[in-house]
Amino acid sequence: MPMVPKRLILSFSLTLIVVTHAIAQPPFRIHSCLDDKGNYTANSTYHTNLNTLLSSVFSNGSDIDGYGAFQSSSHGRNPDKAYAIGLCRGHAEPDVCRSCLTNSTNLLTKLCPNQKEAIVWYDQCMLRYSNRSIYGIKETNPAFIIWITQNASSDVDAFQRNVQSLSSRAVAGGSFRKFAAGSRNAANNFQTIYGIAQCTPDLSDVDCNDCLITGVNGLTQYCKAVKGCYVLYAKLQSCL
Ligand SMILES: *[C@@H]1O[C@H](CO)[C@@H](O)[C@H](O)[C@H]1NC(C)=O
Ligand SMILES: *[C@@H]1O[C@H](CO)[C@@H](O)[C@H](O)[C@H]1NC(C)=O
Ligand SMILES: *[C@@H]1O[C@H](CO)[C@@H](O)[C@H](O)[C@H]1NC(C)=O
Ligand SMILES: *[C@@H]1O[C@H](CO)[C@@H](O)[C@H](O)[C@H]1NC(C)=O
Ligand SMILES: *[C@@H]1O[C@H](CO)[C@@H](O)[C@H](O)[C@H]1NC(C)=O
Ligand SMILES: *[C@@H]1O[C@H](CO)[C@@H](O)[C@H](O)[C@H]1NC(C)=O
Repeated sequence: MPMVPKRLILSFSLTLIVVTHAIAQPPFRIHSCLDDKGNYTANSTYHTNLNTLLSSVFSNGSDIDGYGAFQSSSHGRNPDKAYAIGLCRGHAEPDVCRSCLTNSTNLLTKLCPNQKEAIVWYDQCMLRYSNRSIYGIKETNPAFIIWITQNASSDVDAFQRNVQSLSSRAVAGGSFRKFAAGSRNAANNFQTIYGIAQCTPDLSDVDCNDCLITGVNGLTQYCKAVKGCYVLYAKLQSCL
């Protein structure tokens, strides 16, 4: 795959959230090694647990048989237990989903060779691991905004309205899939605007809704004059 995105160009903090901007076109890949969450050493118990977890659960993917698959698992004993979550975009074909998660597991430990916690987003899936339980916890850090620039003068209001209208459908998606996709016409021209909103389905409806509201605000704030924009949080992907 690897279409490596152009390097991150700017970072700053937004309330307590670190938002990093990147410019990329799909297929993209963005990752974050969380340096402040602790490091492990080669062949430590945590390292072994993590490798076992990633190779047994996420590299096989034989149980990925639907759209928007979500997997959550852990391996080992405290204090060296490893936890991981994998999520595919709601419209990713099962084959693409499997391949994307396999690629993620192979790559993420190479991209982040000693961090206990790390996350990678592709446009079709995301993978995240940690030495703490990450299931069911809303997190908007780390966060990335990805712009797709192409001579566009975007109708940010229409972007926002579109994703807002998708959010309630995504939230109501249930405990297996919190995803919605849709399109609408921009108000001021004849362009069609496409959007998706998705949370990891382990989030409660309330947390998913909060997360998407934060995401929609991010779109409004940062996605001007672009052709497309993705807002990525540890528990959410939304784009238009
Ligand atoms: C994860 O690792 C960090 C750094 O080694 C440690 O401070 C933290 O307590 C660990 N978390 C858990 C839940 O074991
Ligand atoms: C973990 O390692 C990275 C370099 O690989 C370093 O930048 C970071 O400060 C380390 N974090 C801790 C908590 O020691
Ligand atoms: C970790 O284990 C592998 C395989 O047993 C070995 O090749 C490697 O040298 C070890 N690394 C360290 C730092 O001990
Ligand atoms: C992967 O899935 C296949 C088919 O279900 C199964 O036979 C195989 O044992 C699995 N491999 C691992 C490493 O889990
Ligand atoms: C996974 O990696 C392979 C080999 O680099 C590539 O051909 C494939 O497109 C990748 N899959 C996804 C979903 O990115
Ligand atoms: C983008 O703008 C440049 C300069 O105005 C122009 O040369 C180019 O053809 C445009 N590309 C597209 C895809 O519209």
